[in-house]
Amino acid sequence: MPEFKEVELMKLEGNPFTMIGKDWMLVTGEKEGKVNAMTASWGGMGVMWGKNVTFVVIRPTRYTKEFVDAADTFSLAFLDESYRKTLNYFGTVSGRDEDKIKASGLTVLHDGKTPYFEEADLVLVCRKLYAQKYDPDCFIDRESDGKWYPEKDYHTLYIAEITKALQK
Ligand SMILES: Cc1cc2nc3c(=O)[nH]c(=O)nc-3n(C[C@H](O)[C@H](O)[C@H](O)COP(=O)(O)O)c2cc1C
Repeated sequence: MPEFKEVELMKLEGNPFTMIGKDWMLVTGEKEGKVNAMTASWGGMGVMWGKNVTFVVIRPTRYTKEFVDAADTFSLAFLDESYRKTLNYFGTVSGRDEDKIKASGLTVLHDGKTPYFEEADLVLVCRKLYAQKYDPDCFIDRESDGKWYPEKDYHTLYIAEITKALQK
């Protein structure tokens, strides 16, 4: 398998709308030596507080949320189209019910304490800066509230600094 190389964020190629919204990503965290990951297709990349950041949103029911909450860092992994089935699996089964990493055959590597997957083409190592649960009172577009949160399971928004980009 090709080796990862650290790349400057400014030199990163790719369109975030496609990478996140269409190709999807794995959000991966570690808690007490255990790693869990879930598929995400909502989020973004941008600039906040003078830092290059990513935005991800995680519902309270996701097992991965416990892992992201437990550590200072997490990773985002972008895999090619041949992993679509794997991404569907990570997005429909919970790590509470199955050892998804073992079942998928993905290989966990670490950058310091942050887990990520060897099979990814691109990995963003992220350091949490801010987390806030969406507040129903703050919806200007009431339709989004009704459409996406009939069970009131509001996402927590995480804003995290991208401290490293590893690319093959
Ligand atoms: C394409 C796709 C995108 C998803 N995007 C998100 C997301 O952005 N945020 C979220 O909380 N859940 C999202 N999910 C749902 C989680 O991936 C799913 O509930 C997963 O089984 C959670 O696993 P876990 O309990 O092991 O954390 C998505 C699922 C799919 C299939």
